[in-house]
Amino acid sequence: MSHVSDTEVDPSMQSIYVHGGKPISGTVRIGGAKNSALKLMAASILAPGVTRITNVPAIADVTIMSEVLRSLGADVHEGDHELTIDASGIDTFEAPYELVAQMRAAVDVLGPLLARFGRARVAMPGGCNIGARKLDLHMKGLGAMGVSFETDHGYIDAQVNGKLHGASITFDFPSVGATENVMMAAVRAEGHTTIDNAAREPEIADLANMLVEMGAKISGQGTPTIEVDGVDELHPVDHRTVGDRIEAGTYLVAGALMGGPLTTVGADPAHLTLALEKLRRMGVSVETGPQTITVSRTGDLQPCDIQTLPHPGFPTDLQAQFMVLAALAKGSSVITENVFENRFMFASELSRMGADVRIEGHHALINGVPKLEGAPVRSTDLRGGAALVLAGLAADGETVVSGVHHIDRGYEDYVGHLRALGADINRR
Ligand code: EPZ
Repeated sequence: MSHVSDTEVDPSMQSIYVHGGKPISGTVRIGGAKNSALKLMAASILAPGVTRITNVPAIADVTIMSEVLRSLGADVHEGDHELTIDASGIDTFEAPYELVAQMRAAVDVLGPLLARFGRARVAMPGGCNIGARKLDLHMKGLGAMGVSFETDHGYIDAQVNGKLHGASITFDFPSVGATENVMMAAVRAEGHTTIDNAAREPEIADLANMLVEMGAKISGQGTPTIEVDGVDELHPVDHRTVGDRIEAGTYLVAGALMGGPLTTVGADPAHLTLALEKLRRMGVSVETGPQTITVSRTGDLQPCDIQTLPHPGFPTDLQAQFMVLAALAKGSSVITENVFENRFMFASELSRMGADVRIEGHHALINGVPKLEGAPVRSTDLRGGAALVLAGLAADGETVVSGVHHIDRGYEDYVGHLRALGADINRR
C-alpha cells in the first residue's frame, strides 16, 4: 500500500480535475498491452524456471496479477516496465477470491494450472460494471479436453480426469478469455486441439507467439481457427509485450477531439484498422508508420455509425471514447454495442456534460451538440472513466472525474501523459 500522508488523498480515492479547451498535441509513447501482459504472466506458470516479460505497463492490474502468481508460490520481481517470474516454486493451484474478485483476468490462470497440475481452484470472478462476464465458454472448451468442474462456495474447482487430451472445440462466441485458457491448456495436452471460432485479437497472437517461443506447437493464431499439438514440456523465455492498441486509440481520440497533431509511438496501426477508418470518416486525418499513428483535424467532426464486434471488428474497448467524438459531431450517430450486454453506463455520465444520447437496447443514438459543459462525473469502468476525461478536455470549464481507480487499472500515468500533450489537468 502506498504511504498516504494525512494531507493527501489515497491515490485510489483521488479525482481527476481537467479544464477544457486547451489544444492537445505532441507525441505519446504507448506501453505494452494490458490485455496481453496479464495473459503472458499467466503463461509463465507453464514453464518451471525464470520467465522475463518486457514492455510491461505499470498499471494496477499487473500488480494484482503479480499478487495472484505470488499466491500460487511463484517468485515475481517487478522491475522497470518488466517482470521476472520464477514459476519453479509454484506449489498450489488456488487463486484466492480477494484477488480474482478485483480482476477477472485472473481467471486466465485456469488453463496453465490445469496443464501443469491437472487441478485449479479459482474464485468465480464476480460480474463487473459492463456485464455478467460468464465462464461457460471457458468451461465448454476445457471440459472437452477432459476437465470436470464443480462450484464450491464461490470457487470453481477444476480437475482433469486422467490426462488433459486434445479436442475439437467450436466456440459459440469468439471469447478472448476462453480462447486463451483453452490454448494454454492445449499446449500441454495429449494430442491435437482445434479451436474454431477462436478470438482473433492481436493479444491472442502475442500470447500464442510467446507459447511457441516456449516450445509449444501452435498455428492459426489471429485467424478463426487455431491448431495446437500438445508437447511434454515448455521452457521459460524472454518476451516483449505487444503495444497497447486500446491505450493508443484512447490518445488518438484526444488528438481527434482537440485538433492535434498527436502522434502515438509503440502501437501497430494494423491493430486499429477499423478505428482509424472511423476517425477518417469523422473528418480526422490519419497518417501511419510501422509503429506510429498521427491524427489531426481542422474541420468539423462528422457523425459516424459504429458497431462493436470481436476483432477485427470495431473494438468494444474504444466504444466509450468514440462516443465522445460522436457527441460533438455535426449530426447524428448510432453506436451499437454487440460484445457486452451493459456497456453504456458511461453515456449517462456523458449526458450530465450536455451530450444528447438516448439508449435503446444495445444502441446508443447520439445527436451531436456544439459543446459540452464541464461537470462532476463518475467513472463507471476503466474505458468509461478514460472517456470522461477525454470529454473534459473538450468541455467548457472544469470537469471532475471521480472513481479514478478504474482508470489506474489500465492506463499508466494517464494524467501525466495528457498534461504533457497540453491538457490543463491534475489529480488529487
Ligand atoms: C477481454 O475480456 C478483455 N479483457 C476486455 O477488455 C475486452 O473488452 C474483451 O476481451 C473483448 O475484447 C482482458 O483481456 C483482461 P470475452 P474477456 O471473453 O476475455 C461473453 C478492458 O477494458 N462470454 O471475449 O472477458 C462475455 O460475457 C477489458 O480492457 C460468455 O458469454 O472477453 C462478453 O459479453 C474490458 N461466456 C463477451 O463474451 C464466456 O465463457 C466477450 O467476452 C466468456 C465470455
